[in-house]
Order: sequence, then C-alpha cells, then structure tokens
Amino acid sequence: MTVKQERHLLDLSSLGENALERLLDRACALAAGAAPKKRQGAVANLFREPSTRTRVSFELAARRLGLDVIHIEPDQSSTTKGESLHDTLATLAAMGVRAAVLRHRDEGLIRKLASGLEGMALVNAGEGQQAHPSQALLDVATLLARGRRPAGLRLAIVGDIRHSRVAASACQLWQRLGAAEIRLAGPPGLLPDTPPVPAARLCKDLRTAITGADVIMLLRIQRERMDATGWPDEAAYFSSWGLTRSLLDELAPQALLMHPGPVNRGVEIEPALVEDPRSLILQQVRMGVFTRMAIFEWLLN
Ligand code: CP
Repeated sequence: MTVKQERHLLDLSSLGENALERLLDRACALAAGAAPKKRQGAVANLFREPSTRTRVSFELAARRLGLDVIHIEPDQSSTTKGESLHDTLATLAAMGVRAAVLRHRDEGLIRKLASGLEGMALVNAGEGQQAHPSQALLDVATLLARGRRPAGLRLAIVGDIRHSRVAASACQLWQRLGAAEIRLAGPPGLLPDTPPVPAARLCKDLRTAITGADVIMLLRIQRERMDATGWPDEAAYFSSWGLTRSLLDELAPQALLMHPGPVNRGVEIEPALVEDPRSLILQQVRMGVFTRMAIFEWLLN
C-alpha cells in the first residue's frame, strides 16, 4: 500500500522552483481578477501567537475558494486538557479537515508535526524567529504586481532583524530571486551576529542601509521575543532608525516602502509616510489574501 504524501507549505527552502513561480504568478493573476479555483472541504486556523493580517487573510482566502474555516482558539481547545497539538491535528484530519494553518513560537515544530501527520496539509503562518514563508511570498507578489522583479534590486531591511522571521524568509527568497543587494540594518542588539544568507550584509547605520535602495522594508521591534531589559527606548530608536520623509527624499527618493505590519507609527516610520505614494504597506495586506488563495489552490489541488 502506498501512503499519499501530503503537500505542505513549511518553509521556502522546501518550495521547488516550479511551485514558487506558480504561486507568485497565480497570486498576481488572482489580484488582476482571475477567477478563483473552487475547492471543497474545511481548513482550520490554529494561531498560538497573536495575528491580524495573516489570520484574517488566510480565512478570507479560504472562503473565497469556497472552503469552510474553523478557528481553534488555544484557550478553548482540548490542548488545555493535555492533548498534544499533533493529536489535535490528527483529530481534525479524522473529521475531514483538509489543511491547518499554524502559527507557533517554537521553531521546528511545524515541520515535526507535518512529518507525523497523514491526510492533512500544514501551512506555516509564522514560526518562531525562523520562517514566515507566506509573508515573503506576498511581499514579492506585491512587487511583481507593480511590474517590479526582485532580480537586480537593492533591498534594505531595517529594524529588529535578529528576532524577525519576516527578515529570515525575505532574505532567503530575495537571494533566491537574484536581488543585487540585501542590506540589513538595526541597532547592535537587534542585528544578527552574521548575515543569514551570503547575499546579505550588515549595516551599522540607517543612511548606509537605505542610500540608493530600490526597496526599503521596515520591521517593528519584536518585544515579545526579548527580555524587557533589551527593549530600546522608542523615541531614541526613532531618532536613529526611524525612516522619515526627508531621509527618504534625500537618500532613496525612488524607493518603494514595505512593512509586514503591524506598523508602529512614529517608531520605525514617520507616521505620514505610511500613506506616502511610495508606500506599499496596504497593498501588501491586499496581496496577502490573493497569495494565500494561491497557496490553498496549490495545496488542495
Ligand atoms: N505580518 C504579519 O504576520 O502580521 P500579523 O501578525 O498581523 O499576522
């Protein structure tokens, strides 16, 4: 007897070239008005860390494909009575739930769960500090929808790189897609000791990082992943690392601005810049729904 191997979205490294290209193209096609490919059955959202964008967009994406959506709230599920997450997922799979979208703080957990599970696809919706694959995909899809490709572009990522799964996945994807430069900048405590991918380099100040950049991605300080003693003072952070319109106009006037959200106005970015014509922030949110539709279409083919 052969056991059917489920398709999962665990990280970007396990996504082949064809699948990557197909997901990005499909997200753009859906954003441009292509008809969704309807799917049947139910998917479950299990978010063990807070979320607005990712959780809601996976839900909307599923509903637009005709899927039912179940939310398993951590404090209301039987994991509070000792059931393991694996057993919760196996229980849902036995009821016919076809996919589970998981966010969790423990690195490696989602891959481990996937390896022991039959009859259900798993989607990594953010895992520890390591991976947020659907965010990286939607960010690139947002650029593609603007007619820009990462190949040859200079990307600056500014903020809390050390604790950011968004930065980790973005570095992987932008390197893979041929970015000319990936500059990583932030205060010493929020930068990794070494660049996470060979194409990236660490910058010690904001001006160096953004000068001539084509895309500037700002990240919030991930307070939930550090000891309160490591929290930077917000006003001091803004004065050294916050992006202002005057800096942008001076050093990278053509750059497009991205932020995975949630945005802390006046900390990582001058408040009014969020609505600047160069800002793609809400377009990223919009593209999140189409990218996650493409993910479900692909997973539940
Ligand atoms: N970008 C992102 O993951 O946002 P949420 O935490 O709101 O899902």
